Amino acid sequence: MFRRNPRAADPDRDAGLQEDMVVIVDQSVNPYLVLFHEPAGYRAEQVRALRNRLVAMNPDGEPKTLVVTSAVRDEGKTIAALNLAMAMAELERQQVVLIDADLRRPGCERYLNLNPEPGLTDVLLGRTTVEKVLRPAGYRQLMLIGPGTRVGNPAEVLSSSRLDELLQRLKERYQYIVVDTPPVLPSTDAGVLASRTDGTLVVVRLEKSMKKQTRDAVRTLQDMGANVLGCFVTELRGADPESDRRLAYEPQAGEEGT
Ligand SMILES: Nc1ncnc2c1ncn2[C@@H]1O[C@H](COP(=O)(O)OP(=O)(O)OP(=O)(O)O)[C@@H](O)[C@H]1O
Ligand SMILES: [Mg+2]
Repeated sequence: MFRRNPRAADPDRDAGLQEDMVVIVDQSVNPYLVLFHEPAGYRAEQVRALRNRLVAMNPDGEPKTLVVTSAVRDEGKTIAALNLAMAMAELERQQVVLIDADLRRPGCERYLNLNPEPGLTDVLLGRTTVEKVLRPAGYRQLMLIGPGTRVGNPAEVLSSSRLDELLQRLKERYQYIVVDTPPVLPSTDAGVLASRTDGTLVVVRLEKSMKKQTRDAVRTLQDMGANVLGCFVTELRGADPESDRRLAYEPQAGEEGT
């Protein structure tokens, strides 16, 4: 089991699991993927801090499945899941896979600028095998399982017992399996997925998320048996931390190679 951090389970409190990201005008890969675009920056470090906390909550190092979700749409779940999976993939000897289990409005392939290919639904419907849908995400050793062929009944497809088999199978080869999901309140998908995984992170977008909705989402997840580990707060108000000199800690000039 992931060891829960009781302080972090309350979305009303500043859980310390903070992350804020900034726009970088850029090419094809989503600009908020800070691990990709500005790996030495403050925001990437914040994602690594979250990763380190999660790793510390898993002292025996057993493979873990981790759902990233939020109360409603557009709160930054997919970006958070991608950044976190990338940060985990930076660790030595950590094999990491990200599953896009948002069968309604999937985003992982789009944000990574990858073409849609067979993925999760195709495995859950028994049309293909897990080996055939695992693909490199384009960052370190991170692997991706995309959402797969569109289905009209996502809730039904996700409740398949093949999902447990798939997660079990992946745990034989990967240390962390990060699962991106739809929001909790509009559908049951996230709750179903969260209840079948080891831990759940709830994304809160400070400028947008409503306290009541986040609280309801956490309650719903807990009622469904999810192990809510904490909140991941994005888009904090205030000055851009990237321009705060007190937070800078770049290598001294001339030290490289000495
Ligand atoms: N920290 C952030 N600050 C500002 N904008 C962000 C941030 N993170 C993500 N975005 C942008 O907000 C939009 C929604 O992000 P994302 O797709 O990650 O949210 P989501 O919760 O997964 O949405 P959905 O509910 O549709 O799956 C995207 O256009 C993304 O580029
Ligand atoms: Mg999403």
